[in-house]
Amino acid sequence: MQYKNSQLLLAKRPKGMPEDDCWKMNHEMITSLDDNEILIQVKYLSIDPYMRGRMNDGSSYAEPAKIGEPMTGETVGIVVETNSDSYAIGDKVCAHKGWQTFIKVKDNDPTLYKIPETKIPLSTYLGTVGMPGRTAYFGLNRVGNPKSGETVVVSAASGAVGSVVGQLAKSYGCYVVGIAGGPDKCSYVKDTLNFDECIDYKAGNLEEDLKNACKNGIDVYFENVGGPVTRAIAPLLNKDARVPICGFISQYNAEDVSKMETPFHVLGVLDPKPEHRFFVVTEWMSEWAKATGEISKLILDKKLFYRETITKGFENAPQALRDVLTGRNFGKQVIEI
Ligand SMILES: NC(=O)c1ccc[n+]([C@@H]2O[C@H](COP(=O)([O-])OP(=O)(O)OC[C@H]3O[C@@H](n4cnc5c(N)ncnc54)[C@H](OP(=O)(O)O)[C@@H]3O)[C@@H](O)[C@H]2O)c1
Repeated sequence: MQYKNSQLLLAKRPKGMPEDDCWKMNHEMITSLDDNEILIQVKYLSIDPYMRGRMNDGSSYAEPAKIGEPMTGETVGIVVETNSDSYAIGDKVCAHKGWQTFIKVKDNDPTLYKIPETKIPLSTYLGTVGMPGRTAYFGLNRVGNPKSGETVVVSAASGAVGSVVGQLAKSYGCYVVGIAGGPDKCSYVKDTLNFDECIDYKAGNLEEDLKNACKNGIDVYFENVGGPVTRAIAPLLNKDARVPICGFISQYNAEDVSKMETPFHVLGVLDPKPEHRFFVVTEWMSEWAKATGEISKLILDKKLFYRETITKGFENAPQALRDVLTGRNFGKQVIEI
């Protein structure tokens, strides 16, 4: 066997926005498999906001990506060679083995799993029925605890996580307001995803627009962005409000992470203080299959919609990450290889 694997290795840690010199392209030949190994030809690479955090050194809930190793990331692909009894050639799989075009991996790797045969496209297993969809499901249900009739607000509403949060909350009978950047994203959130309202935080009238949209205050704010959006949300939170803190992307490029304002600084000083905590989707790993099953059914029944930005070409992964960090993506960002 002879397979040319291309890898994007982390070359240096960024200051601010990660430029191209943070990565180095490397090529290697894969010529053999050991016992119980499979070779995956990658079809899609996921590009996610969390990747920016992994490029930093220092303590976090997850290990930093290592210099000289493939940049961290999840992929979907097809098994093209196998030395395993558990995987056959042609199997579709997900693996979390970094930015590379072929993946040689042991069949018992904890990040490896088979993708079921459904009508859902392969790329969607990195988005709505993948990690971001599960993040929305558990963050909303286990931390947000929305009840019918309550007002739920979600930021980055057109994105991979936010789009699922709002549509699930609508299906639970909530009044749902999205926040997104620009008129196109806001129209999509209202007209296609069927949120009750969507506010363009770039239009320059955020506080007033939010107040008008949330006449009964806010019961659940699903936090994806931080910064000025969180400050505008804070005065509208009702007593007993819940704020699942999923992420705060507006701060990810801060040069000094220890000095940045997080949602905890904004929410922690409020009186009454809303229930708020950071969560990670891996807290509910044992229930992932249940969440994936429920979300898949909603998609197949045409009750849940989503959008993907599919960029062709492995070499475009760094630009795609910058696009996610600046809002140039529209829906889940993936790279087609
Ligand atoms: N805790 C967990 O386990 C977990 C798991 C997955 C994701 N997350 C977090 O969930 C959030 C959403 O992730 P996603 O994968 O669904 O990404 P996404 O929403 O598909 O893409 C990121 C979006 O963030 C918005 N954005 C970028 N820069 C911004 C800024 N400076 N200010 C405000 N908004 C900005 C942009 O939307 P607009 O154009 O609308 O601004 C952009 O499209 C992120 O914070 C991510 O870190 C957490």
